[in-house]
Amino acid sequence: MDFNNILFETNNGISRVTINRPDKMNALNAETLKELKSVFTTIKNDDKINVVILTGAGDKAFVAGADISELNQLDLLSGKEFAEYGQEVFNIIENLGKPVIAAVNGYALGGGCELSLACHIRLASESAKFGQPEVNLGVIPGYGGTQRLARLINTGRALELILTGDMVNSDEAYRSGLVNKVYPGETLVEEAEKLAAKINKKGQIAVRMSVKAVVSCDELSEKEGQHLEAGLFAVCCGTEDFKEGTAAFLEKRKPEFKGK
Ligand code: COA
Repeated sequence: MDFNNILFETNNGISRVTINRPDKMNALNAETLKELKSVFTTIKNDDKINVVILTGAGDKAFVAGADISELNQLDLLSGKEFAEYGQEVFNIIENLGKPVIAAVNGYALGGGCELSLACHIRLASESAKFGQPEVNLGVIPGYGGTQRLARLINTGRALELILTGDMVNSDEAYRSGLVNKVYPGETLVEEAEKLAAKINKKGQIAVRMSVKAVVSCDELSEKEGQHLEAGLFAVCCGTEDFKEGTAAFLEKRKPEFKGK
């Protein structure tokens, strides 16, 4: 697959997607969003890919937001389409059905912060900075940020970020639950790869059912969520991996999962 603004590689079931516009702080222009949609659709449909790492090229930015030179051209009608298209792409990532780890290696601002929020696990470099500075441009987050940020770190903290446009450093992001772990910049991607490799060794049907169940918690009532959980649990119980995992425990050996 040939992309202008994205690097994509897969090794042993683990894909790495790198947004590659370092001279523009990896800002998301329309072409990059389109390429993100294409690459994540490919990943979704490729059963051999189990885990994804998403990061930004260079050492300054994960993604510094939507491309402001394009944003500047929007009006009432095109603004709605712009937001809806970004939401569609980020929803594909959140609903990928397999884990996506954001390795946030620098600025994650505006659409960049929202992109990290659409991922399932966020790891950050010590130099990472998160923010929703849209208010400084006279607009609000439009790629799902008002919803995902409020759910993740609570409405008060989300509104503080959205209303001030202030950036928070990785320590503060960690304390507020915005990121799972913080690492030195030099080891961030290596740590993301270690985490991906650990997940890649598990029974992949159980991994995918876990992602599906947990991601749906935002949309379902407790009762509906538990109903879904029971169904997905049952799916796992019908797999070879389940027989292997439980037998391996009882036989005091390591399981050999086949994703079946
Ligand atoms: N859209 C388009 N271009 C962007 C961009 C964005 N969101 N963020 C950075 N760039 C471009 C800059 O215009 C500059 O391009 P140039 O070299 O052609 O002038 C280049 O990336 C480097 O950015 P610069 O501002 O010079 O780097 P810096 O280190 O001084 O500051 C940031 C880095 C991220 C703090 C600053 O670029 C910034 O505030 N970006 C906008 C963030 C934002 O508001 N995002 C939300 C958009 S909805």
